[in-house]
Formats: sequence, C-alpha cells, structure tokens
Amino acid sequence: MRLTDEEKRMLKGDFGPTVQKAMEVQVKLGQIHDAPYMVEITSAHIDGNIDKEHNEDSIDFLEKLATGQINVRTFTTLNTIGMDREKYRELGFSSAQFADQFRLNRAYEGMRCLGVYTCTPYYTSNLPRFGEHVAWSESSTPPFINSVLGARTSREAGVSALMAAITGRTPYYSYHVPKNRLGKVLVKIACPIEDISDYGLLGYFVGKRVGSRVPVFDGLTEPSRDEMIYLGASLATSGPVAMYHIPGVTPEAKDLDEAFGPNEPELVINVTKSSLQEPLDYLNDMDSGPVEFVALGCPHYSLAQLANVAGLLEGKRIHKRVTMWVHTSEPIRHMARKLGLEEIISRASGVLTADMCTICSPLEKLGFRTLVTDSVKQAFYSHLFNNFTTAVDTTENVINIAVAGVWEGNKNNA
Ligand code: F3S
Repeated sequence: MRLTDEEKRMLKGDFGPTVQKAMEVQVKLGQIHDAPYMVEITSAHIDGNIDKEHNEDSIDFLEKLATGQINVRTFTTLNTIGMDREKYRELGFSSAQFADQFRLNRAYEGMRCLGVYTCTPYYTSNLPRFGEHVAWSESSTPPFINSVLGARTSREAGVSALMAAITGRTPYYSYHVPKNRLGKVLVKIACPIEDISDYGLLGYFVGKRVGSRVPVFDGLTEPSRDEMIYLGASLATSGPVAMYHIPGVTPEAKDLDEAFGPNEPELVINVTKSSLQEPLDYLNDMDSGPVEFVALGCPHYSLAQLANVAGLLEGKRIHKRVTMWVHTSEPIRHMARKLGLEEIISRASGVLTADMCTICSPLEKLGFRTLVTDSVKQAFYSHLFNNFTTAVDTTENVINIAVAGVWEGNKNNA
C-alpha cells in the first residue's frame, strides 16, 4: 500500500504504540482487500460499545487506552447501549446491572468520542457531507451514509471503526471506490409501499436475495428520509447490503442509467404484495391474544416520528398490562420534551427512552417473551438474541394494539 509520510510515521510508532497498532491493523485490512492507499476520514461512528459484547479484558484494554490519553483523531460518535442513563431505574433495571456499561462509556468518552448513544447520530450531531470518506459501523448506518447522503463508508465493524477513529484513516476499498457504488440488481416494485414497516419488509425481502450487490429500486415514489432509514436497516439485516439507489431520489441516481452506469442488471427482482408476506410469515409468529411488550424506534426515531406517535397516542391510554417503549437519542428526546411530545407519550403510559434499544438491553431480566413492533430489524433480532416471538405491523396499528392490549393477527394480510 502507498502510505503518506504521516501514515508511515504512525506505522513506525512515532505517535505511540496504540496508534502504531491501529495503523498496523488497518494496513493489514487494506492489503486483504487490495486497497491501494488510505483515505482521510471526516468522521467515525463506533458500535460494539455495549457491555454484552465485552469482557473484563476488553473493558480493561479500553480503559487503558483512555487513561493513556489516546484521543480519536476525527469526530466520533457512539452507538446505542442497553440502558437509558436517565431512566434505567424507571424501566426496572439497577445501577449494579450497568456497572460495566458505565465503565465502557467513561473509557470511550475518555478518548473524546461523543457520548451520544444512538444509531441515528446523523439527525443531530454527526452528519457527513456528500462525497466525504467516513468509517461507520452499526449495520443500519452504512446504507444511510452511502445511499441517502452520498458519503462513503465501508461496512465497518466496531473495532475497525475504532482503529479508523484513532488513525483518522481508512483503507480505500469497498464503497469508497466509485465503481463499487453502482447498481447491480434491479428491483421492480409493483405494490404500494407506504409505512416504515412496509419499507422494512421490502428491505428484508430484497436483502435476502442480493448478497452484497447494490440494489436499485424502481417504482418507489417519494420515500421520506425516515422510510429510507428503515429500508436500509432491513436490507442490512437479512443481507450484507450497505448501499442502494432509488432513481430520482438518492443523490447518485438521477435516473436508472446513472444508478447502473455501465453495468447491466445481474438480476431482476419483482416485488408484489405477496413478496412482503414472506418475511411476515417468519416474523409474525406471536400467538394472537394478550400483548405484554411493545417497542418502537429501531433504528432510533426522528423527531417527526415521535410527533407522529404522540399524535396517535393523544387522548388514549395504553392497556395496563402492556409495557411500551419508544426509543430515540438523547438530543431528540430533549427536543421532544420541549415540544411536549414526551408528556403526551407518558400520559398515555408509554416511556420515551434515550440512548438504549430493546435488543441491546438486558430484557431477559424483565421477563418479557413477546414483542409487537413496527421494525422488521427489531423483530428479527428479538428472535435471534431474546428468543422472543414477535408481531410486526404499521406504526399506527402497533399503537392501536398497545391501546387494546390484544394482538389479533396481521393487518397486512387483510
Ligand atoms: Fe438501533 Fe438497536 Fe435497532 S442499535 S438499529 S435500535 S437494534
């Protein structure tokens, strides 16, 4: 790999052993992927910062980095954790349960990572510009960065994003390279896609079929930013997809020709209403009957989504046997508080959480076994990590289910 003088000095150890090790790892990564050189990054986003993914040795290692005054070289945000730092007791947890999480937070923040714990930091704090090279982990973020913003990131792991943050560099490969960003698969939409749950089902269906190829969606009309986030999150749930195009909407695809460039589609996928039923057959395995737990906000909700939820809950009350969490980031909750949205959600007996998500939290301690949600990603991982049975429906239907306290089956089947 060609390295600049400064990168060579990092590799030689002029900036200390940690920077040296981080550069060694990145050079190795670059060599594996035939990257010709490194690029400077303008931001990083690190996941894998939850206590469930660490042991004493790894926490100790991060604490040593922080006390050794290793600072990240680029603006860096942190991903969602398993606790709401303000409300964890209200949610049924104790501080002892999160002793390791507090240590991790201090260690990362000690390296000057911004302690805003969210999978949607682009709403409030970390918003890359078109064409910028960045190093972002958490599977739902690369599709947003690459597709919606037109910035450039590989599908980073938490560790490689940390190394990139420490060196301020990432190898030039994957979606950093323009030709790898072109469409390879044409997806023809022949049914209405309306709610974020529909976008999630679409993403799940397509993600399973495209591998790491870039899909181009033909027939999606004016999706909102939030809908595109839920599309990308699901594409990256059922497959390793980190970029997609929507002609006329995403910035590198003014039309189909630009989306594909010189490529011919290697595959054409036709999406009909029955296509969306396929993921539902797997994800809607919860028995109809009483509901115990409802969660919204995976990925973390925007302020507009919270306003929608508050509007749907206004004047209603969630059934007394139902626990309902709505996840967002701390800055968005702050704004929701100022707008009176949190109060409406609380008055209806829901809890607006910040920093956390259902999947990352130690839910098993609260005894839930089932989940109703509008998020395909959340339902999928609740099966995998929490052994839950689940039901997925539109945001509006999920709220009506929370109020009724009963799941009667999938409205999308109607
Ligand atoms: Fe975010 Fe947790 Fe979902 S990290 S994308 S809310 S699984």
